[in-house]
Amino acid sequence: MRFPLLASSLTIGLACGQTQPLSIPGHPWIPAGSGDFRGPCPMMNTLANHGFIQHDGRNMTRENVIKGLGEGLNFDPALASVMFDQAIIANPEPNATYFTLDQLNKHNLLEHDASLSRSDAYFGNNHVFNQTVFDQTKSYWQGPVIDINMLANSKVARQLTSKAFNPTYVFTLLTEEFSLGEVIAPIIAFGDTDNLTVNRSLVEYFFENERLPSELGWKVRSDVVALQDVARMTGALRNATKLTTDSATTVSKRALGRNPHFGFVTGVSKLLTILAYYGQVESDIDES
Ligand SMILES: *[C@@H]1O[C@H](CO)[C@@H](O)[C@H](O)[C@H]1NC(C)=O
Ligand SMILES: *[C@@H]1O[C@H](CO)[C@@H](O)[C@H](O)[C@H]1NC(C)=O
Ligand SMILES: *[C@@H]1O[C@H](CO)[C@@H](O)[C@H](O)[C@H]1NC(C)=O
Ligand SMILES: *[C@@H]1O[C@H](CO)[C@@H](O)[C@H](O)[C@H]1NC(C)=O
Ligand SMILES: *[C@@H]1O[C@H](CO)[C@@H](O)[C@H](O)[C@H]1NC(C)=O
Ligand SMILES: *[C@@H]1O[C@H](CO)[C@@H](O)[C@H](O)[C@H]1NC(C)=O
Repeated sequence: MRFPLLASSLTIGLACGQTQPLSIPGHPWIPAGSGDFRGPCPMMNTLANHGFIQHDGRNMTRENVIKGLGEGLNFDPALASVMFDQAIIANPEPNATYFTLDQLNKHNLLEHDASLSRSDAYFGNNHVFNQTVFDQTKSYWQGPVIDINMLANSKVARQLTSKAFNPTYVFTLLTEEFSLGEVIAPIIAFGDTDNLTVNRSLVEYFFENERLPSELGWKVRSDVVALQDVARMTGALRNATKLTTDSATTVSKRALGRNPHFGFVTGVSKLLTILAYYGQVESDIDES
């Protein structure tokens, strides 16, 4: 029964061609004022800034979350409902029917270390945008289009930084599921969900302003985002976070075939690689 794991990867973190500025009809961008609640999740903050969910950051009921994620991002009601189920634990009251955005700030409940745009709680404020942290993240987004590998690299880099320097670093298997959903969110919201790429300018604009990038030409996608789409994309991201590769790409089969005595192989690591793939290279050597 894979569903519980699948569901847990569909995180609240998901929600964490014009020359003139174009606002979204009926949903102008109005940043939080005093008394408005915001939280660690840039997407929920953004939806509140546009009034897709309640602007004051309160009263996130199932109905309101489904409506807001549907209208703002074209998320399927079932997907939004799963995300609500994951977020409602943030309200400590028994049988709560709503949560507020600031309730998401509680460290190590849903909010976690090594996020792409927030400091670890150990180092500072864990819920407001942190430019230093985001600059580290951006350094792994090399080029005008962010692909799944770049996203994965920034995720892993943030984790490694936290693991190395934050003595209170916590990142459980459940955190990993939430984190995968958060990190893939920019592709889901603003990118190409088939090729798993997204325009870097849109993503930076979104994180840095907590604003939907409509003035950069973005429009809400016309195809509905469903549970299974998210599962497919988080699966691809999970694969991309691995630090091992599928094949011995550094050891060309053709090069080995031309050099049956391996005279060029000096490094121990190369030798180990060859041993690991011995069965595969042997047939090439035989052919030469
Ligand atoms: C909260 O949202 C619900 C809809 O889900 C609505 O019926 C209710 O009036 C709202 N409460 C407040 C205090 O805004
Ligand atoms: C919460 O719901 C459970 C199950 O429906 C019920 O037994 C319990 O009394 C409720 N608690 C409160 C504080 O309403
Ligand atoms: C931003 O993050 C850095 C690195 O974690 C930290 O040193 C700094 O204190 C943070 N700033 C704030 C305002 O929390
Ligand atoms: C996605 O990739 C395919 C194959 O590389 C390409 O033909 C297609 O144009 C790409 N789609 C977009 C929207 O860039
Ligand atoms: C990304 O979006 C910006 C703003 O609309 C645009 O100027 C730029 O050409 C886009 N980049 C790519 C690679 O499509
Ligand atoms: C992830 O990798 C596994 C093993 O290589 C592969 O079977 C699977 O199709 C990949 N999943 C995605 C979504 O790319």
